[in-house]
Amino acid sequence: MASKAVFVLAALVLNAYGASAVDPLVSVNITAPDGSAKASIMPFGATTTNFWVKDKDGNFRDIILGFDNHSLYQSQADGHPYFGPVVGRYANRIRNGTFTIPISKDASGPGKKFQIVENENNGTDTLHGGLVGYDQRPWNLDAHTANSVTFTLVDPNGDQGFPGTVVTTITYTLEAKATWKISMVAFADELTPIMLSCHHYWNLEAYQETQDLVGHFAQFEASKYVGTNGLLIPTGELLSVEGTPLDFRTAKSIGDAIPGTAEGQFCGTGSSNTAAALDLTTAGSTTTPPSRSPSFSMWSVNSGIKLEVTTDQVALQVYSCNGVDSPTLPIPRKVDQGGPEQVYTDHSCVVIEQESYIDGINNPEFPIRPQIFGPLRPYTWDSTYVFSIL
Ligand SMILES: *[C@@H]1O[C@H](CO)[C@@H](O)[C@H](O)[C@H]1NC(C)=O
Ligand SMILES: *[C@@H]1O[C@H](CO)[C@@H](O)[C@H](O)[C@H]1NC(C)=O
Ligand SMILES: *[C@@H]1O[C@H](CO)[C@@H](O)[C@H](O)[C@H]1NC(C)=O
Ligand SMILES: *[C@@H]1O[C@H](CO)[C@@H](O)[C@H](O)[C@H]1NC(C)=O
Repeated sequence: MASKAVFVLAALVLNAYGASAVDPLVSVNITAPDGSAKASIMPFGATTTNFWVKDKDGNFRDIILGFDNHSLYQSQADGHPYFGPVVGRYANRIRNGTFTIPISKDASGPGKKFQIVENENNGTDTLHGGLVGYDQRPWNLDAHTANSVTFTLVDPNGDQGFPGTVVTTITYTLEAKATWKISMVAFADELTPIMLSCHHYWNLEAYQETQDLVGHFAQFEASKYVGTNGLLIPTGELLSVEGTPLDFRTAKSIGDAIPGTAEGQFCGTGSSNTAAALDLTTAGSTTTPPSRSPSFSMWSVNSGIKLEVTTDQVALQVYSCNGVDSPTLPIPRKVDQGGPEQVYTDHSCVVIEQESYIDGINNPEFPIRPQIFGPLRPYTWDSTYVFSIL
């Protein structure tokens, strides 16, 4: 089959370049042809370590959070924030770390059952693909031009408990007019769940004018959110955003909306203020990917930087950095963002992960395309980020 042939091709390409000795913690730089944007991206986790665009005064700002000391990206310690990488093989949470193939409600069905390493909530669920997710692996640097870079990761059969080998390729390309394209494709040689995302922490002010998100506004084409159980694990319910702080169908301040979620009503009693998965599909749509342009927008009235994202994914996870600060393990900011004296504080940044519905492999009732991929069905993820000035 054609997809199998491409799988073999991807493996061959990887072998051809695999011998090159590249330090996975050293970023490569890419620049848009018109100089409108620059990025630094390293093989470890295929992580974006820096991303510069121009503000309203024409000055570059680095608007993605990270560590200047790249060794800190390897930390497995408490507080590991997933700054800027690809998350996978299955992004976000898996209830009880289990699923069946074919999928069934909470792995209760007769299919073959799999147990993935549980790395969250005292080992009761899986987050971002297990203890050693795609963010913690050195990807292979396949190709690098002035404005694009491609990495590949071979995720072996059985790693973290997942079935089948998955070969994932990601290409980051900077085009004119501060346009950033990210494409991922993944090939599996057995049936396996795949859900990938990028995990960028944004502060569109680079912490220059303010230290909170009150001046950050957002607009999401999302009418529903995924109900969760208190530990951010989906229950299978899709709820209306109408009348909730999560309703961003009309643009509003992100910082002003955060206090309204403080009771944990939307995000889980164990973890208030955090996340909501927002539905980008029209109600009941099962086959049509969202084609709205853009799918979401975010901007700072202070820096004047606006970000508009178009994606082929059907949902968003929005995380307002409620747990980025820790009294025991404060994270020094990058020098570009006021560090290292200043640390990253809670509610001062936003992560937006375009992906499929969280834990769709334990919730067959979700109105989405199946999340099980294999030799006959490659996985794809595409997003375009366009930056402009208000
Ligand atoms: C990449 O860009 C950064 C920031 O401009 C710079 O410090 C670094 O030297 C560049 N690396 C290379 C290899 O040019
Ligand atoms: C970077 O972090 C590592 C790990 O904590 C540490 O051993 C090293 O000294 C740090 N390097 C610098 C230049 O601070
Ligand atoms: C979690 O998975 C384990 C191992 O498969 C199983 O024994 C246990 O019953 C599951 N717990 C729940 C709540 O489903
Ligand atoms: C994890 O264990 C700690 C210490 O026993 C406890 O305080 C905490 O509530 C537990 N968290 C969860 C989600 O079970």
